[in-house]
Amino acid sequence: MSSELRVEKLRKIFATTAKAAVDDVSFTIAAGEIVVLLGPSGCGKTTTLRCVAGLEHPTSGKIVIGGTVYTDPQAGVLVPPRNRNLGMVFQSYAVWPHMTVRQNVAYPLKSRGVKGAALAKGVLEALELVELADYADRPVTQLSGGQMQRVALARSMVYQPQILLLDEPLSNLDAQLRLRLRDDLRRIIKRVGLTALYVTHDQTEAVVLGDRIGVMRDGKLLQLDTPTEIYNQPADLFVAGFTGATNVIDGKVVTRDGGFGIVAVASGEKLTARMGADLPVGAAVRVALRPDNVGLAPAGEGFAGRVETRHYQGTQTVYQVTVLGTSIEALEVGSAARYAEGSAVTVSVPPEVCWAYPVS
Ligand SMILES: Nc1ncnc2c1ncn2[C@@H]1O[C@H](COP(=O)(O)OP(=O)(O)OP(=O)(O)O)[C@@H](O)[C@H]1O
Ligand SMILES: [Mg+2]
Repeated sequence: MSSELRVEKLRKIFATTAKAAVDDVSFTIAAGEIVVLLGPSGCGKTTTLRCVAGLEHPTSGKIVIGGTVYTDPQAGVLVPPRNRNLGMVFQSYAVWPHMTVRQNVAYPLKSRGVKGAALAKGVLEALELVELADYADRPVTQLSGGQMQRVALARSMVYQPQILLLDEPLSNLDAQLRLRLRDDLRRIIKRVGLTALYVTHDQTEAVVLGDRIGVMRDGKLLQLDTPTEIYNQPADLFVAGFTGATNVIDGKVVTRDGGFGIVAVASGEKLTARMGADLPVGAAVRVALRPDNVGLAPAGEGFAGRVETRHYQGTQTVYQVTVLGTSIEALEVGSAARYAEGSAVTVSVPPEVCWAYPVS
């Protein structure tokens, strides 16, 4: 039975460091939903997950699973990990090396008192789910990394946990395997209908796997939204940059019109950008823009620019272009590489994908 997970005002300060590793984080994962926490190394992803698991005792805050409070230090509630009925998959292949695939997957059921036909059926179903039924009697030491992670996954799902917790489960795998298992993971979790909290620093993994993505930085949850919202309406400059909007153009707001405004940049030229109500006329802003949203043309409507460098990558070309008094990156999709270094280009930057944020 999968359950809703509620994390309320979670805060964790380790005794050895004054700074909060997790700083007032709140979110809810609906039953059957996959939420991915995404952020750079050290931002507090693992600590958050370990607090949910009961492996870490938070300084304050609450963990509520399926309506039952499992962690509430203020009230003296800290249910131990083994009594939370959670499944966990980690970066390292946490399989028992002296056992076969079948024995590994059977173990959690046996330890819960499942026997006989029910045990055999449960194990077989879990192995079929991760496509390892043919490997049931192999010692796990004779499996590939990807297969071992499948065993770990089967083992953590076989007893139908309330919630599945995954901490960078793909990061020890080679690139190709990683992509395959990434796609499989979502399919498998969805087929069982598990509630899942998945932690990674890989943005493409987050987009492919998550129903919603929570972007973290310095212990704080900056934005929790669907992948399309995160990619099309990033809440701040960090979320924009972390998800690939690496071009930043500085300027000042000169007029406002609804959710948009006109920004005067260093060259004196004006560009239209999306902006929140917190940005009045006169505010200094930084406009973030994805390289793949920068349009290049030989001539026509747009800002006058010049190609500085060109890096041909076969299926795409990355240009560094001088425009708007600064230098930005532009991505041309396809194998054509139409613009030579030094050539004049017209640069278009669609207002919907220019996001202005306050200078912090
Ligand atoms: N046991 C600990 N004692 C003291 N500080 C810790 C401990 N565990 C983690 N931290 C600190 O808490 C912060 C958050 O760590 P955490 O492991 O949650 O980050 P993360 O987002 O999972 O990073 P990564 O992507 O590298 O796994 C870091 O600054 C880390 O150094
Ligand atoms: Mg971590």
